[in-house]
Amino acid sequence: MATPQPVLIPTAPHQYHLEFVLRGDASTGDVIALVAQLWDPAFTGEQNAAEGAGVQSAGGAVSIVVGFGPDVWNTLAPETTPAHFGPALSVSTREGAVAVPATQRDVWVWLCAASYSTVLSSAVKVTRMFDSVATLAHEQHCFVLQDSRTWEGFIDGTENPGPFQAPEAAFVADGQKGAGGATVLIQRWVNAPEKAFEALSIEEQEAVFGRTKRDSVELVELPVTSHVARTVLEVDGEELHIVRRNAPFGSVTERGYIFVGIAADQSRVTRMLDRMFGVDGGEDSQVDALTQYTSAVSSSSYFVPSFDALLAAGIAPSDPG
Ligand code: HEM
Repeated sequence: MATPQPVLIPTAPHQYHLEFVLRGDASTGDVIALVAQLWDPAFTGEQNAAEGAGVQSAGGAVSIVVGFGPDVWNTLAPETTPAHFGPALSVSTREGAVAVPATQRDVWVWLCAASYSTVLSSAVKVTRMFDSVATLAHEQHCFVLQDSRTWEGFIDGTENPGPFQAPEAAFVADGQKGAGGATVLIQRWVNAPEKAFEALSIEEQEAVFGRTKRDSVELVELPVTSHVARTVLEVDGEELHIVRRNAPFGSVTERGYIFVGIAADQSRVTRMLDRMFGVDGGEDSQVDALTQYTSAVSSSSYFVPSFDALLAAGIAPSDPG
């Protein structure tokens, strides 16, 4: 079986999302050579201030995941690009308003570490390294809030598949194009108006999410507009899962989330989004109540190839470790 990148690791205390757009004159060879360096100790280790060099240390190790937009991976390695994998599309409400803008970018690097200084130091180095071939289009530091709560105080991740089921939901199966890889949807969501949500009673807040606030128990009478009701995806009586690794970001003036939706089959995430905005009409015409309080401002899809697929494309670290 192909070895997947560590995209399923539990949400790390500190994370950095970097999204790049390749420069028009960047050659395939340039991109391959630079991506291969991502696993050098300078990036996966911690900066040693005294010596100015990257060193590996137990507390400072950075987990690195790299994903590629459809055009880029299809150019680098068409033989391992999953069938039907395409760019993130915008989502419009049935009234025609754009609810989720499409902002497809080319390369996504996800850094996870135990400390902010470690992850930031690595993010700066990665961005400098890519400078000759790519422009940084989006950066975001994220973190774990309390016991994996949203800003609204609800636990995020309860219904994620467990470790025995998650690989099947996340990774393209053996024998298929792109085996061991995962498709990932990265979206930035910004919260507003927070005061309106806070003004709701606890029962009204629970109706928005479809779970209890204290301990994340699914409501017995689930409102059709609740986030849980809109995102449970059933086909022919079978529930189809994705794996989520969302994390909050925030400052005094702006708070929100980076949504990280991982799926072997990209269409699962797309269909959940369509159901959140009621685009299909009929029984699926309800709009997710959560979207009154938080809005998507970016949306990009990436393919996260297995290590085997990276190697086959010529992306090999100088020291495989
Ligand atoms: C950034 C805004 C979002 C926030 C704050 C958020 C938060 C939550 C929370 C608190 C839950 C309930 C607990 C849990 O099972 O994790 C949940 C469930 C879920 N969310 Fe989201 N979510 C967001 C966006 C999305 C999007 C964009 C999708 C899919 C496209 C999605 C898919 C799901 C799924 C599949 C579940 C589990 C439903 C179930 O089986 O019970 N979420 N989300």
